[in-house]
Amino acid sequence: MTESKPLLICEDVTRRFGSLVAVDRMSMSVEKGEILGIGGPNGAGKTTFFDVITGITPASGGRIVFDGHDVTRMSADRLCQIGMARTFQLNAAFDHMTVLENVEIAAYYGRAPRLFPGLRMGSETRKAATDALDLVGLSGKAGKLVAELPVLDRKLLMIAGAMATQPKILFLDEPVGGLNSDEIDFVIDLVRRLMAGGLTVVLIEHVMRFLLALSSRVLIMHHGSLLFEGPPAQVAENDRVVEVYLGQGTRERLKKHFAVSVEATP
Ligand SMILES: Nc1ncnc2c1ncn2[C@@H]1O[C@H](COP(=O)(O)OP(=O)(O)OP(=O)(O)O)[C@@H](O)[C@H]1O
Ligand SMILES: [Mg+2]
Repeated sequence: MTESKPLLICEDVTRRFGSLVAVDRMSMSVEKGEILGIGGPNGAGKTTFFDVITGITPASGGRIVFDGHDVTRMSADRLCQIGMARTFQLNAAFDHMTVLENVEIAAYYGRAPRLFPGLRMGSETRKAATDALDLVGLSGKAGKLVAELPVLDRKLLMIAGAMATQPKILFLDEPVGGLNSDEIDFVIDLVRRLMAGGLTVVLIEHVMRFLLALSSRVLIMHHGSLLFEGPPAQVAENDRVVEVYLGQGTRERLKKHFAVSVEATP
């Protein structure tokens, strides 16, 4: 049996801003179909790590291999066209355009470059956009202006825009920050549906309930480096993770949560 290669490999990825080393020799790999969760304190370098991988900001060092190709110096638009999509920690959308127009723009520019680019979006673009809106449950609001949307719908719109580019891997930066408990459950269910379709997902989240429910493996970053890597049930067992990130209260809650989950397993 031949072993399949990881979809994404990061080797010693580094990003410096002057004397600040925001990402400090981060290495990791992501398998096809996996859901990898990344946590860590504010300023740990999580978003910058996403920014380097997805071509928003250049690496100062290290190497990134995606789908068998060295993509370390590839531009964000090209990376998107070959199958990387992401959402942003802060809402990123054209506020004075409609929901459908926003997702159509993502579908049009996020897919392979056309031989004869035109001003009109074709039926293929429209279909990719409407399918993505269906997927996240926003079809009923396709004609609404983005400025009128509540926070959950803005988060869903970013996911729809990313999915309209038909990615192989999706990076989600704090997809449930600021959402209430029912809304978080809705996004958990949505990410599970995306996974069921074969998508590979890497997500950053401070909401532990979300991060641990979805991830098959968790990385915790601190000062730009990897502090912990392991299964969700072991995150709260690590003394350094508790010391620099979770605190004792969260450790106790998570221990109870996993004890209950284990007892509930037949
Ligand atoms: N463009 C930039 N110029 C200078 N410093 C930056 C820049 N972007 C990020 N930083 C710094 O890099 C460090 C890591 O920031 P980053 O936003 O990646 O952290 P994070 O782990 O995503 O934090 P949070 O959980 O608050 O979102 C911080 O010290 C931040 O101030
Ligand atoms: Mg961040």
